[in-house]
Amino acid sequence: MAWNTLDDLDLSGKTVLTRVDINVPMEAGVVSDMTRIDKIRPTVEAIIAKGGKVVLLAHFDRPKGKVVPAMSLGHLVDALSASLGRKVVFAADCVGDVAATAIAGAGAGEVVLLENTRFKPGEETNDPALAAEMAALGDVYVNDAFSAAHRAHASTEALARLLPAAAGRLMEAELRALEAALGKPERPVVAVVGGAKVSTKIELLANLVTKVDHLVIGGGMANTFLVAEGIEVGKSLAEREMAETAREIHRKAQTAGCSIHLPVDVVVARDFKAGAESHVVGVRDCPMDAMILDAGPKTVASIEAVFAGAKTLIWNGPLGAFEIEPFDAATNAAAKAAARLTREGKLISVAGGGDTVAALNQAGAAEDFTFISTAGGAFLEWMEGKELPGVAALMG
Ligand code: 3PG
Ligand code: MG
Repeated sequence: MAWNTLDDLDLSGKTVLTRVDINVPMEAGVVSDMTRIDKIRPTVEAIIAKGGKVVLLAHFDRPKGKVVPAMSLGHLVDALSASLGRKVVFAADCVGDVAATAIAGAGAGEVVLLENTRFKPGEETNDPALAAEMAALGDVYVNDAFSAAHRAHASTEALARLLPAAAGRLMEAELRALEAALGKPERPVVAVVGGAKVSTKIELLANLVTKVDHLVIGGGMANTFLVAEGIEVGKSLAEREMAETAREIHRKAQTAGCSIHLPVDVVVARDFKAGAESHVVGVRDCPMDAMILDAGPKTVASIEAVFAGAKTLIWNGPLGAFEIEPFDAATNAAAKAAARLTREGKLISVAGGGDTVAALNQAGAAEDFTFISTAGGAFLEWMEGKELPGVAALMG
């Protein structure tokens, strides 16, 4: 790979500006999912082990260039300290004297956390002057924030060009996993793409059909593909105006030798609520007053057969309305099948996206996947074949 890792840099006695993504969900002032915080630990430990001083740069939420006290990173100090098992020194600014003083005062093995970079108007405009102020605080730059790498911001892009730079351990793991899934994968490759709308994932579908051998389409977007084939879907969520786009994706897939898999049977209900009365019907038999809320058992069996014949799986988006029972059945079953094949060493499985990870966790399948990305938007953009500015900047 064309970027440096922590192994390539001498960090002894150096102050290491480390961009992390600790944009975690909070409920009533408490972190409700620690994943992103826990995942920076290998990078923090590696830097300290190599004799460097860790200074964390991060954003939280979207304060839009203003100081918004509710979005202060100060609220994360305790969670961070508990996860790292180290003292965390907080600086109420990400540049200038306040930051410099906190860095100078931090002792060996202590971690410095600088205030939300997005409190500065120059962060989201990728302002070189702000990046220069950040660069003045340290000797080396490490980017461990894959999940923010689709943003060309001062702390993710401009700063990388001002100091010797490297990818952190999590960034490295994310890039290697995605490269294994879509770069030079073991074939056949199957992609599962679900979710509500075709319109938000056109670029993704168009790119994937040129790269993968099988594309399984689920969720609301499958209905749009069914409509495109002249199949009636009753009151189901479907973007009828996208039918021609769906047909184009189908043609593109045919040319590229990618098989598209649509539901052959579906779970329908008249109400979209937990425990609603539901039926399995053939894909052509959705009643006019009902809606499709999940894929049916025959569809699940055929998806499992596709998985069994594949070597690599990349998954983004649930197959049905997984957040409401019993419409999580297809997603759960397919996720369990992928988990089992991975456990048996027959499949490399990679998944990403907020909903997807929630669905795989709910299915109890996430732990067995080869790799679960911490990224939402960045994972999607990478799958779309786009260059991520935060990664490109590390290439020098
Ligand atoms: C995320 O949570 O997706 C990342 O932290 C990026 O945040 P953003 O979508 O506000 O840029
Ligand atoms: Mg986002």
